[in-house]
Amino acid sequence: MEFNNLLLEVKDGLAVLTINRPDKLNALNNEVMREIKAAFEHIRDNDEIKAVVVTGAGDKAFVAGADITEIHTLDQSSGAHFAQQGHDIFTLIEKLPKPVIAAVNGFALGGGCELAMACHVRLANENARFGQPEVGLGITPGYGGTQRLPRLVGKGRALEMILSGNMVRANEAHAMGLVNHVYPADELMDKAEELARGIMSKGPAAVAMCIRLVNEGLDMPLDDAKAHEAKLFGEICATGDMKEGTKAFMEKRKPNFTGK
Ligand code: COA
Repeated sequence: MEFNNLLLEVKDGLAVLTINRPDKLNALNNEVMREIKAAFEHIRDNDEIKAVVVTGAGDKAFVAGADITEIHTLDQSSGAHFAQQGHDIFTLIEKLPKPVIAAVNGFALGGGCELAMACHVRLANENARFGQPEVGLGITPGYGGTQRLPRLVGKGRALEMILSGNMVRANEAHAMGLVNHVYPADELMDKAEELARGIMSKGPAAVAMCIRLVNEGLDMPLDDAKAHEAKLFGEICATGDMKEGTKAFMEKRKPNFTGK
């Protein structure tokens, strides 16, 4: 697929999606957001693609936020629409039934931090900086920052980041659970690919179901979430992948999953 502001490369089932607007530190304007939506719909619907790594072009930024020049023009009605559209797109990413790994290679600010948080796993290089600087612009986060950040790092740390607008370095983001691993810059993409390919070797139906269970269960009371897990465990036991994965273990061989 061709985009004006994205690069989408697929190699052996792994998609690498690069936000490609480096002269503006990969800031998310309307066109970039429309293209991200189209790219993730394509990734979701294309059976050849099993996993995706999201990163930013250049060596300075993952994504430095929503485009502030476009935010400046918003009013009450268009502002609510702007945020809702962002939610719809980032929820598409969060609910994608294939693993989405953010390889954060620089600034991940505002919408950039929110994009990384919508991904299933976050890896970062040592130059990465995370922040929700919106209050400095007189606005609130609008693409999920006030909701996903406290769910990832806890209310107190999230409120400190959101109210101060201060950036945190990669190692601090790691310590608070915002990123899973920090790597030297020249290793980040290899590590992201290694993780993605490891997940790709597992049962695809089970992987998709795990993403669904974690997402849906977190919004439920614990007893309901456990009942949901039991129900979906029953569903996974009805798949060929379950028979194949367990049989392969018993036969001491690698499983041959079909995703069915
Ligand atoms: N929206 C629009 N343009 C942005 C942008 C954003 N969120 N972030 C960076 N840019 C643009 C800059 O305006 C600049 O464009 P120009 O060269 O035409 O002037 C270009 O990207 C490079 O950024 P610059 O500010 O010169 O780089 P820097 O290294 O001095 O500073 C940052 C880097 C990330 C600290 C700084 O760009 C910044 O604070 N960006 C905004 C972050 C933010 O508030 N994000 C949340 C938005 S809701």
